[in-house]
Amino acid sequence: MKILIIGSGGREHVLAWKIKQSPLVKEIYCAPGNGGISKIAECVDISVDDIPALIRFASEKKIDLTVVGPEAPLVAGIVDDFEREGLKVFGPSKEAAQLEGSKIFAKEFMYEWNIPTAGFQKFCIIEEAKEYLRQVMFPVVVKADGLAAGKGVIICRDFIEAEKAVDEIMAERIFQEAGNQIIIEECLEGEEVSILAISDGECYCLLDSSQDHKRIFDDDVGPNTGGMGAYSPAPILTEKLYKTIENRIIDPVIRGMQKSGTPFKGVLYAGLMITFDGPMVLEFNVRFGDPETQAILPRMKSDIVELMLASCDGQVGNIKLEWDKRSCVCVVMSSGGYPGEYEKGKEISGLKDAEKIEDTVVFHAGTKKEDGKIVTSGGRVLGVTSLGNGIETAIEQVYNAVDKINFERCFFRRDIGSKAFKWVSHRSQVTR
Ligand code: AMP
Ligand code: GLY
Repeated sequence: MKILIIGSGGREHVLAWKIKQSPLVKEIYCAPGNGGISKIAECVDISVDDIPALIRFASEKKIDLTVVGPEAPLVAGIVDDFEREGLKVFGPSKEAAQLEGSKIFAKEFMYEWNIPTAGFQKFCIIEEAKEYLRQVMFPVVVKADGLAAGKGVIICRDFIEAEKAVDEIMAERIFQEAGNQIIIEECLEGEEVSILAISDGECYCLLDSSQDHKRIFDDDVGPNTGGMGAYSPAPILTEKLYKTIENRIIDPVIRGMQKSGTPFKGVLYAGLMITFDGPMVLEFNVRFGDPETQAILPRMKSDIVELMLASCDGQVGNIKLEWDKRSCVCVVMSSGGYPGEYEKGKEISGLKDAEKIEDTVVFHAGTKKEDGKIVTSGGRVLGVTSLGNGIETAIEQVYNAVDKINFERCFFRRDIGSKAFKWVSHRSQVTR
C-alpha cells in the first residue's frame, strides 16, 4: 500500500515510524514532513492547508490511505473532500470535527448527552461576558470558541485577569474569528489524563492512557505550551476509572454523534481532568495528541494500518489491540524562548548517540535538513522517547538520551513522568 501522512510534527514522525512497521505498507509520503520524517518517508512540499494540491497528489500517486495529523485540515473538511474524490482517508468528517473546531458545539453536545464537564456560559457580546464575570466565583477559564493552535484557553484568577482575557479575545481579536464567541467555564481541579479512542462511527477501541505536561517549566509552572512531554500508561487510571471513562464519556460521544447523524470516524481524543467527583472532560480533539502519540505508539504491538483501515471500513469491532507492558516516556526538547519568541536554524548535535541508548527513538518535530545537517526550525524541536521496564527505568533512559543532544539555547523539562511516582508507589501499574 501507499500511505500519505499530512503534517510536519513529532506526532507525524511517530505515525510514519509506526506505519512503516506494517507489512501492508510499501511506500510512505509525508506532506510537508520534517528533517526526521525524510529518513523514512518521501517528503513532499505541500502545505497541510492546501487541500486541492493534496487531493491532486494523492490521486496522481494512487495513494491507498491518507492519514491526517493536525486539526486544521480536518475542521476545514479535508475528509469530505478526499472521500468525494474516491480517496480513502483516516479521520472525521467536517461536521464531526466540530467537536474540536467549536468549543460551544462540544459543550452543548456534552450537555445534551449528559457527559460530565465543567459548567459554562457562552457569549458573543463583550459587555454581556463582563457582566457575567461580575457575578462568578474565581478562578474561571475563558476560552475562544474556535481553533487557536492550542493557545485559546486562559485561566483567570480574578476579575481583572478575566476582563483582560475577554478584551484580548473579543476586542483585540488575538485569535481572529476563533474569538467571535467565547465560553466562560468553571475551573476544575485535579490531574489531567488523555484518553484516545479509534472509532469507525459505530464501534470504537480505546488506546492505552497517557499524560501530557502542558506547562513550560518543571512542576507545572509557567505558560501553557503544545506539550513538553508525555508518558504512557498513566497509573492514575485504575481499571475501574478506565471503565467509568468509557461508559460515561467515550461511549456516549460515539453513540451521541451517531444518533445526531454525524458519526465520528477517526481518533477521538478526550482531554480529561480526574477530579474529586470523577473524570470530567476539558476538551475534545479529533486527532492524535502531540506529544501523547510519541508515548503511546511505541507501546502498541498491533498494526496501526489495520486499525486505520478498520476505522475507514466500519470494521473496528473486529480489532483487538495489544500493548507492550513497559512504560514509555517522551521528553520534548524545545528552542529557548518557546512558547514565546525563539530563534531557528541552530545545528543539532548528538542525535546518533542518543539513539544508541536502548529502546530509544528521537522523533523530530521542528527540524529540517540543511546542507546535510539537521537544524532547528520550530518551537518544539525533538521528542526523545524511551521504553523501559517501569516508569523509573524509562525516565532514566530518556534523560540519558536527552543529555547527549545539544543545540544552542535548547530547553526541556527535567520532571517528565515523575507525576506517575505517587501512583505507582502504592499501586501496581494498570495497562489494558
Ligand atoms: P484545552 O485546549 O481546552 O484542553 O485547554 C488547555 C489546557 O487548559 C488544559 O489541558 C487544561 O490544563 C486547562 N484547562 C482547560 N479547561 C479547564 C478547566 N475547565 N479547568 C481547569 N483547567 C482547564
Ligand atoms: N498534547 C495536547 C494536544 O495534542 O492537543
